[in-house]
Amino acid sequence: MKTQYYTAASLDGFIADSHHSLDWLFQFGEAEDSYPNFIDEVGAIAMGATTYEWILTHQINEGADRPQAWSYEQPAWVFTSRILPAIEGADIRFVKGDVLPVHQEMMAAAGNKNIWLVGGGDLVGQFYDRGLLDEVIVSIASVTLGSGAPLLPRTIATPPLRLLSAKVYGDAFAELHYEVPVRPDRTTA
Ligand SMILES: NC(=O)c1ccc[n+]([C@@H]2O[C@H](COP(=O)([O-])OP(=O)(O)OC[C@H]3O[C@@H](n4cnc5c(N)ncnc54)[C@H](OP(=O)(O)O)[C@@H]3O)[C@@H](O)[C@H]2O)c1
Repeated sequence: MKTQYYTAASLDGFIADSHHSLDWLFQFGEAEDSYPNFIDEVGAIAMGATTYEWILTHQINEGADRPQAWSYEQPAWVFTSRILPAIEGADIRFVKGDVLPVHQEMMAAAGNKNIWLVGGGDLVGQFYDRGLLDEVIVSIASVTLGSGAPLLPRTIATPPLRLLSAKVYGDAFAELHYEVPVRPDRTTA
């Protein structure tokens, strides 16, 4: 079982633009990617409040510009300090604070499958801080945004990430799969 940050980013390292828009990503349409194989191996999902609210606004709520039902069969943990609306029929648990006990719950739910950290970057950083992030799988889109929500606002330099693979999808995406080094100062205890 791995805890994986799977996402798409601009070439200059942003997962959403400064208005939390993903139009730069959706312009590529339903390009072939690794998602179907990836999601088959996921047993639990975590995301931050902004990401969840993006889904509510753009996919779930009446008048959404990309209407679709909640698409995850796996249980999902949403980190928030507020009371956010639930989605009927979706297994969503609202949590806050330290990611360690939540990660333990997620591991129990995931069985031998992987944990998907959807984002955003700082939430994934909180898992990294606790020594709980195993892999980063990022599809780099052929765009630059100049500013926005950062991919992973942490310093991981020495030891560096280890590149496991690099795949090309069409003429727009390079998917980079990294293993995160074990932190010498990991603080899971
Ligand atoms: N490119 C992609 O594939 C992709 C993937 C994922 C997300 N995105 C986009 O990227 C952007 C990410 O936004 P973001 O960086 O603001 O991140 P986010 O992680 O989605 O949301 C951040 C919010 O989560 C809550 N939170 C985080 N850690 C918490 C904790 N330990 N306890 C309680 N609450 C916690 C806080 O909200 P409260 O105010 O509720 O406390 C915080 O303001 C969004 O626009 C999203 O749609 C893009």
